[in-house]
Amino acid sequence: MAIAERIPPGIANAIDYERLAPEALGPQRHAYIAGGSGHDVTLAANRAAFARWAIAPHLLRDVRAGHTRLALGGLALPHPFLLAPVAHGLLAHRDAELASARAARATGTCLVASTLSSRTLEEIAAAAGAARWFQLYLQPERAHTLALLARAEAAGYGAIVFTLDASIQLPSRSALASGFTLPRECVAANLAGYPQPAAPALAEGESRIFQGAMRHAPTRDDLHWLLSATRLPVWVKGVLRADDASLLKAAGVAGLIVSNHGGRGLDGSPASLACLPAVRAAVGPGFPLLMDGGIRGGADAFKALALGADAVLVGRLQLYALAVAGALGVAHLLQLLVEELHATMAQAGCAQLSDITPGMLMPC
Ligand SMILES: Cc1cc2nc3c(=O)[nH]c(=O)nc-3n(C[C@H](O)[C@H](O)[C@H](O)COP(=O)(O)O)c2cc1C
Repeated sequence: MAIAERIPPGIANAIDYERLAPEALGPQRHAYIAGGSGHDVTLAANRAAFARWAIAPHLLRDVRAGHTRLALGGLALPHPFLLAPVAHGLLAHRDAELASARAARATGTCLVASTLSSRTLEEIAAAAGAARWFQLYLQPERAHTLALLARAEAAGYGAIVFTLDASIQLPSRSALASGFTLPRECVAANLAGYPQPAAPALAEGESRIFQGAMRHAPTRDDLHWLLSATRLPVWVKGVLRADDASLLKAAGVAGLIVSNHGGRGLDGSPASLACLPAVRAAVGPGFPLLMDGGIRGGADAFKALALGADAVLVGRLQLYALAVAGALGVAHLLQLLVEELHATMAQAGCAQLSDITPGMLMPC
């Protein structure tokens, strides 16, 4: 962390980091990170979904023994916020994921390190606390995926988060209009030893998407292969449908993350929050279930937990805090999120996470 790094004045809430991000990132990087895909329909839906629910508080509840501790995937966590996997941390800060890892360690937060991190998974593991998972993008060569899995196991990651909703990504029109291109120094450090195969020439009538970009996209066979290829529990990220959730549970995954990649996958897909109740109903009450997409404060997390999530992940806010104040900023962000959740729970009459039931919400 740079010595000059400090928390700027005027930050009262976690969402204030979003307000300060444009200046910290500059217009092009901000447009790339803040944007979703296509017309940003799903990006907007993620936020709008939270406004459709109000919290209906109980009176006369004693919350003096209140806390937000939970057990998740073998971890004992102090609060239900995880740092979502985000590619190219160097866009936000020169220490990239190492700064987020330090903040995670300082606050007892579980960090999910992206395959496309600017620092290697080994460097991130050395900076992070014990609570760390590795997010996997399937590689075109199975040998390279196996090598990543072996490295994640050796570096002490506790789970694999297999992302399935981003085999192709179409940048948002706002990011395109900004003229953003990935700077040359932004390389996926984990993949340095694994050359990507050249795109095959397409035959007459073949599609740039189906036969081109999607040729290495994961299939059910790949999931079954992956489950047998690692001794680590495998979570799947990117689930929106109840039928997919049932299938994945039956296949033997350890848990699911309801997500639409922060609106960066299929534009027009539903808000993550809107999908939660049906996915929870499909997998049943005890099955580990996370969500992300649009979390900007403690009250958002409360609503997600009420609708069936065990915990939530934070994507853009993490990058914004990283850009504004490095590791200190991310740690501060997490502290703000936790305090906001404490305040919401206390005002709602919920002393622990298990008190946050669907009955705490009202449509509005
Ligand atoms: C700039 C950026 C990079 C991302 N990179 C990844 C990634 O490498 N792997 C992944 O599974 N998800 C990635 N995501 C999606 C996040 O993990 C998460 O699902 C999303 O940001 C949650 O929405 P939120 O930003 O509203 O919190 C990325 C998101 C952003 C904004």
